[in-house]
Amino acid sequence: MTPSAVRDDFPALRARPDHPAPVYLDSACMSLVPRSVLDAMEEYYADFPGCAGRSLHRFAEEVGRRFEDARATFARFLGRGDPAGIVFLRNSTEAINLVGQGLPWKRGDRVLISDREHNSNLIVWQRLAAERGIGIEVLALSDSGEFEPDELEEKLARGVRLVSLFHTSNLDGSSLPVREIVERAHDRDAQVLIDGCQAAPHEPVDLGRLGVDFYAISGHKMLGPTGTGVLASTPDALRELRPLSVGGETVEWSTLATHELRPPPHRFEAGLQNYAGVLGARAGIDYLTRVGFDEVGAAARRANELISSELEDETRVHVLGPRDPARRPSIFAFTIDGLDPHDVALFLDEGFRVMVRSGMHCVHSFYARRGLTGNARASFYLYTDRHDAEAFVQGVRELLGRVPAQRANGTSAARRESGSRGAAGRRRAAGSTGAAARSARPPRRAAPGRAASGAGSG
Ligand SMILES: Cc1ncc(COP(=O)(O)O)c(C=O)c1O
Repeated sequence: MTPSAVRDDFPALRARPDHPAPVYLDSACMSLVPRSVLDAMEEYYADFPGCAGRSLHRFAEEVGRRFEDARATFARFLGRGDPAGIVFLRNSTEAINLVGQGLPWKRGDRVLISDREHNSNLIVWQRLAAERGIGIEVLALSDSGEFEPDELEEKLARGVRLVSLFHTSNLDGSSLPVREIVERAHDRDAQVLIDGCQAAPHEPVDLGRLGVDFYAISGHKMLGPTGTGVLASTPDALRELRPLSVGGETVEWSTLATHELRPPPHRFEAGLQNYAGVLGARAGIDYLTRVGFDEVGAAARRANELISSELEDETRVHVLGPRDPARRPSIFAFTIDGLDPHDVALFLDEGFRVMVRSGMHCVHSFYARRGLTGNARASFYLYTDRHDAEAFVQGVRELLGRVPAQRANGTSAARRESGSRGAAGRRRAAGSTGAAARSARPPRRAAPGRAASGAGSG
C-alpha cells in the first residue's frame, strides 16, 4: 500500500472547495485519523451507547464486550500476552504519571532519565524529588544519536530503582536500544519505564521480547482519537502501583469505612470510561495492522530521505540529530540560520499549506542548556507522500531565497509591513520572538504537484 492509496481514507487530507489538500507534517504531535476510526466512535454513540460494567442491558453488555476486546487487541499489538496488563488512560503523560506517582518510593530511591526527555517524563520526577526525596540521575546522550553503554552502566551502578527513558525521541526521531537498556537495568535490579509514544506508531513493539516493565503510548499519535493512551505492563508489576484516582469502577465493594480495590487493570480506570475513544483507538491500531509496519515505516523513510537529500547542500539549514535519515526516519527537525522557528512554520503554512511544528517541543531543558529558542520539526507518517515532501522542500527553498543570508538577523521596514494580521496574532500566540522571515511575505498557492481538486496521487 502506498501513501497515495491510504490518503483517501483520511478525511483531513481532502482538498476543500476553497483550497487544495493540506500538507500535514505534524504527526509526531498528533496523527490524523482514518475514516474507520471515526466510524468506530460514531458506531458507539449510534448503536450501543451504554456504560460498561454497570448496567445489565444490551447496550452496556455490547460496549463492555467491545471495550475488553479492545484491551485484548492492544495486548496482542504490543506483545503482552495478558490483557490485564493493559490500562486505558488519557495519554502517555497520564501513563507515566501513574507509574511515577504510583510506585512505592522510599526517600533516597533514584530514577534515571536522559537529558532530552519530554516534560511528560521529567516534571513528575522533579515533583517526586521535591516531595518524596527521590534522586534524579541524568544520562547525557550525544547529539549524533550514539548510545554509550558505559555511561548507562556508570549511572546504574549508583543504585537506580527505575530507568525511565524515551524509546524514540520527539526531538529528532532517533531511537534508543531498549532491549539492551532493559537487560542492563534488570541486571542491576532496576525496573524500566519506556515512553513509547513516538515509537509505537512507527514500528512493531514486542514488549515480551523487549522485557520492558512499563510502556506508555498515546492513541492520538497512532491514528486514534485525542485523549486516548495506554500503560502496558503485567498484572504483577501493575499491582505494585497506587492508582492515581479511585472511586467508581475501581473497587470490588465498599462500606462507609473501607473498600477493596479491584485487581489490575480496572483499579486504575476510575469513573465512566472514554468508550468511544478506546474503540476508536482500537480501530486505529487495526488500521495500522492492516497496512503493516513495513509500509508504515517505508512511507516516512521515503519522505525523510527526499527532504534530507534535497536540503543537504543548503548550508543555512541545520538538521538536529543523526545526519542519516534512516536513523531518524519519522522526523526532520531543523533550524535555519537567523530565522525564528515559529516564523519558519508560519511561512510554510501560509505560503505552502505545509504544517510543521515549531518551538521547544515540550523539551525546554534541551534548548535552554544550548541557549536555543527551539527549532522547526517536520514529522512523517504512513500518509506522507512525495508531494508532501516536495512541497516542504519548495517552501524551505523559497524562504531561503526571500531572506538572503546577510539579512537573516536584521529588522527591516519590509518586515514591519509584512504578513496578515491573523499571522501576527498567531506568531504572538506561539511566542515567536520575531525574525526576518516576517519580511518574506509568503506566496499563497497550492502545494506543487497535487491537483487542487483532489487529495492527490503518486
Ligand atoms: C516523547 C514524548 N513523550 C510524551 C509525550 C506526551 O504525550 P501526550 O501528550 O500524548 O501525553 C509526547 C508528546 O508529544 C512525546 O513526544
